[in-house]
Amino acid sequence: MKVLVTGGAGYIGSITATALQQAGHTPVLLDSLVNGEQAFTEGRIFYQGDIADRPLLRRIVAEHPEIEACVHMAALTIVPDSIARPYAYYQNNVAKSLELFDEITRLGCTRLLFSSSAAVYGPAPDFEVYEDHLLAPSSPYGRTKLMIEQMLADLAASTDLRAVVLRYFNPIGSDPQLRSGVYAGIPSHVLGQLVRTVLGEQDTFTLTGTDLPTRDGTGLRDYVHVWDLARAHVRALERFDAALEAADSEHLVLNVGTGQGVTVRELHAAVERVSGVSVPVVTAPPRPGDAVGAFANVDRAAELLGWRAELSLEDGIASSLAWARQRNQVLKR
Ligand SMILES: NC(=O)c1ccc[n+]([C@@H]2O[C@H](COP(=O)([O-])OP(=O)(O)OC[C@H]3O[C@@H](n4cnc5c(N)ncnc54)[C@H](O)[C@@H]3O)[C@@H](O)[C@H]2O)c1
Repeated sequence: MKVLVTGGAGYIGSITATALQQAGHTPVLLDSLVNGEQAFTEGRIFYQGDIADRPLLRRIVAEHPEIEACVHMAALTIVPDSIARPYAYYQNNVAKSLELFDEITRLGCTRLLFSSSAAVYGPAPDFEVYEDHLLAPSSPYGRTKLMIEQMLADLAASTDLRAVVLRYFNPIGSDPQLRSGVYAGIPSHVLGQLVRTVLGEQDTFTLTGTDLPTRDGTGLRDYVHVWDLARAHVRALERFDAALEAADSEHLVLNVGTGQGVTVRELHAAVERVSGVSVPVVTAPPRPGDAVGAFANVDRAAELLGWRAELSLEDGIASSLAWARQRNQVLKR
């Protein structure tokens, strides 16, 4: 199957493209390179441009009329940045997605797989969240994701567009061949910060938030290996129509996580275990917009996609460390 992947030069997009290729499918990448890496597009069908560029979308579909679905990953994604620049986030993520959805529906590309986030959920006292949990994002970034989900539900109800929404929890790691991974020089995510400390790129790991209502006071997350996440996309595309039919709906939301919550202190201990390196910690108050955390109930994805995460937290950490060691070579920096 040929699949349009917006944001295909990004972290998750490029790894999903690898998983699609390995499963015998052909990704067609669309990315503006506002972020992302040109190196991740090498050897692939790639269009550099914006998701809201309607003439470009028409050209892509004219040149690849076999495109059967669109995976929409293009977005601005950094929570603190979204607090500082809400206009950029609402414009890029919400307004431009609306243009994309309208144009691809007109072009007859009516299967849309959307990258949403656990950031759409409100607080969960026992941390486990089902797809019907309270939706109450705590940042402009999370609100853009929720607004896009709502747009998709409305469009699916009244047009030919069909939508499967994947709410990712916290992706970590690289693909098995270490072809792509987190490319930011100084990653803002917690594992990226731990990895930098292991590699000696910084002296200490700053643990933000130690007084939270979790079992050890630190933030809790559901770290899912990005290769498992990429496989979830392949499965969702292959079972797209069947999953919607089984759900008796034009629009479906699925959590994609491991079903396990891990605190920052537990992650820190796991990183020390996997790397064999001691990581000094300093503590600081939580960052604005940071959620206490949650883990996914993943029964719906198991039932409708036949997908479950297979790789462990340790696999994800080892993969992140291996990628960080070879990142500059891949990125030719
Ligand atoms: N990484 C995570 O922790 C995480 C968690 C949950 C959800 N997500 C979602 O997964 C998707 C991919 O995230 P990622 O971590 O790979 O981010 P990323 O920044 O690496 O990839 C996003 C890509 O989208 C491109 N892009 C942004 N706006 C564009 C536009 N208007 N037109 C064309 N291209 C554009 C960027 O250049 C970038 O390559 C995003 O939608 C993100 O919100 C990510």
